[in-house]
Amino acid sequence: MHVDADLLRADFDTLAEIGATSDGGVNRPSLGESHLAARTWFLERAAAAGLETRVDAAGNHSAVLPARGSTLLLGSHLDSVPSGGRFDGALGVVAALHVLLALKKAAAELPVSLEAIDFTDEEGTLVGLLGSEALAGTLTPETLASPRGGREALLAGLERAGLEERGLAAARRDPRSLAGYLELHIEQGPVLERAGAQIGVVTSIVGARSFSLVFRGEAGHAGTTPMNLRRDAGLAAADFAVAAEELVVRDFAGCVATIGHVELEPGAYNVIPRTARVALEFRSAGALTLGELEASLLARARSAAARRGVELEIAPVGRWEPTPLDPAVCDAIERAAGALGLLSLRLHSGAGHDAQALASVTPAGMIFVPSVGGVSHDPRELTAWEDCVNGANVLLGAALELAGRRVH
Ligand code: GLV
Ligand code: MN
Ligand code: MN
Repeated sequence: MHVDADLLRADFDTLAEIGATSDGGVNRPSLGESHLAARTWFLERAAAAGLETRVDAAGNHSAVLPARGSTLLLGSHLDSVPSGGRFDGALGVVAALHVLLALKKAAAELPVSLEAIDFTDEEGTLVGLLGSEALAGTLTPETLASPRGGREALLAGLERAGLEERGLAAARRDPRSLAGYLELHIEQGPVLERAGAQIGVVTSIVGARSFSLVFRGEAGHAGTTPMNLRRDAGLAAADFAVAAEELVVRDFAGCVATIGHVELEPGAYNVIPRTARVALEFRSAGALTLGELEASLLARARSAAARRGVELEIAPVGRWEPTPLDPAVCDAIERAAGALGLLSLRLHSGAGHDAQALASVTPAGMIFVPSVGGVSHDPRELTAWEDCVNGANVLLGAALELAGRRVH
């Protein structure tokens, strides 16, 4: 049994038109109009194909091939980073839909329900893993109180989607109702391409933390205030950015730290910045190292502020633990790839994924397909179509094995 490669491609291309940007990417930030339109397309496509559909209290959108027994989830996400690529998340959702369609067409009698699920806000333009953590029961009020995208944007997004903040937790599923979770995703890095492998079997997912830092100095006239009398918040942020890179390169091999957004206020050529708002994110495969990295980075931020005579506010806005994936699910994916004659490779994921949230409640695994040039979170993101189809067929094969094994 295989997925219908032509229909898969037609659906993928149709979806990529929703929120398309002129440079070949998509702009579908979470719960914005184009993201909501993509989700509507997904449900309508599934319903038109005769699948059941549902939307839960966290806005997760699902297509269901029902059976008695527990549910095997196949998922990913339809939101994107600002100015992102067409493949990140979307491939996994469309492939999951086509796995269900292939099984429906074959009239396969499965001992579990199969559910293709599009999780809400994976990328963290608002919160990050919002829908998958709600489903797993790990979304906390603290996380919602201090989201990456800010409270205002979160509340506006929830309202646009017709969701209630207080109701989100009702999306929790009893782990006993779940038979497992599988996610197909592009690798977003160069490992598979360089190794000449067609399929990645993900053994673990990176841990990440995000902080909003606000350096507060003093605004003033950019022409008349002598350099030695300034308390320039922008320069404190710049000092910190350089110090952060030096720290990671020197003391934290294998870790990464990124300042992805800086906003200076008031924001004019001729005004010394009073405020610098800095979006800091850092990642490590190891929980202990992640804690040490946090302490060291925040110490650098404090000393940059002190050196420039400015105040510093630090707010944690995201925390995702390093997560091993289920070894038996990894084996099933490897077998599914082998049965199709595909060369697979085990690897770690430096990107975060909904599988991270699901792994705390059900056996979870991920299938990667190669990213051309390792490029992602960019409109140039590309995966050869043959690799996408291979990934979808491995998803189908692994789903059949897990369904047959019936964890519950
Ligand atoms: C998700 O794509 C992430 O790793 O930021
Ligand atoms: Mn993704
Ligand atoms: Mn992403």
